[in-house]
Amino acid sequence: MNGRPVSDEGRSTACGPKNGRPAADAPTDCTIVDAEGGMLFPSFCDSHTHLVYAGSREQEFLDKIRGLSYEQIARRGGGILNSADRLHAASEEELYEAAMERIREIARKGTGAVEIKSGYGLRTEDELKMLRVIRRIRRTVPLEVRATFLGAHAVARDYLGRQEAYVDLVCDEMLPAVAREGLADFVDVFCDRGFFTVDQTRRILRRGRALGLAAKIHANELDVSGGVQLGVVEGALSVDHLERSGEEEIEALRGSRTIPTLLPGAAFFLGLDYPPARAMLRAGLAVALASDYNPGSSPSGDMRMVMTLAATQLRMTPAEALCAATLNGAAAMGLGRDFGSIAVGKVANFFLTAPMPSPEFFTYAYTTPLIRRTFLRGAEWPAGE
Ligand code: NIG
Ligand code: FE
Repeated sequence: MNGRPVSDEGRSTACGPKNGRPAADAPTDCTIVDAEGGMLFPSFCDSHTHLVYAGSREQEFLDKIRGLSYEQIARRGGGILNSADRLHAASEEELYEAAMERIREIARKGTGAVEIKSGYGLRTEDELKMLRVIRRIRRTVPLEVRATFLGAHAVARDYLGRQEAYVDLVCDEMLPAVAREGLADFVDVFCDRGFFTVDQTRRILRRGRALGLAAKIHANELDVSGGVQLGVVEGALSVDHLERSGEEEIEALRGSRTIPTLLPGAAFFLGLDYPPARAMLRAGLAVALASDYNPGSSPSGDMRMVMTLAATQLRMTPAEALCAATLNGAAAMGLGRDFGSIAVGKVANFFLTAPMPSPEFFTYAYTTPLIRRTFLRGAEWPAGE
């Protein structure tokens, strides 16, 4: 981990050994950065976030403490619909500024590639507004950004009791509009009890695929939804959450290219059972970890905290957690070739830590500020900090 990558035009051109000298084949005019005894880690690839949102929802946090469940809050018009009301009232500029604060925070905390979902719009114009904000972020920051259309995050208020009509709106109006502007890479559906059924999810994913969008699914967070099996059959890039899964879901995933993405920050914050990560790893699945950064179930994009939750709650070793939070996260965004590890030819995204007794210390001492300097595309970011 103390190797010395040298980067050119944002990609690593050489990776040297742990001897304190630049790699033998490094360009001679390169800037030398002294790690000062710290370690070098590849930047996190956070493949599941909802970090464009307006306002916050700490009132619901209090409701939860008093005993209401996530679903009870949603049924009372809280939850995603609450965020949709706030997003409707916010301007594109306000949304962008608020999201950029979060982007700067996660970049300082080691994230170098991030997926961001829409899904707090729930009306065509508002979904487009969110996706345009994501596009603007993508154009202004050195982080690699992927955009996911999640119009089927909840049934919009105006459509309550008319779920099929809302699915029609997603398929016939929203998806074509999103594709026309080239605003999304992926399409996602919240396939779970109280949200969207397997049949509705299939319909939306297929429509998305016809328009060039690869599939992702929120599955098995609240119940055994059938979403995992559907994701595998439909060739989804990832199926995410999976708190409620067992042998059948693992069997379905075995041998498929669909990546199980676990979000222990959401299970932690909502007090849900944790997904069976060890059984998944035993089955040889390439488990990814992501933050699920959102105002309801995971108001944090701290991937280091996610790694520590993976270690303490999912019983993943720090090395397994790091691989899941970097290389496998990159794969869950279709970025495995260019991101997720420090290697010649890959984009030079990494961070330097303070001196540590071992790599495991990073996951163990989980509130100690250990990240000293971050580099994105070979350049320090924020510059000079
Ligand atoms: O991934 N599960 C669905 N969506 C989000 C929560 C969104 C919210 O509550 O605002 C999640 O946990
Ligand atoms: Fe989510």
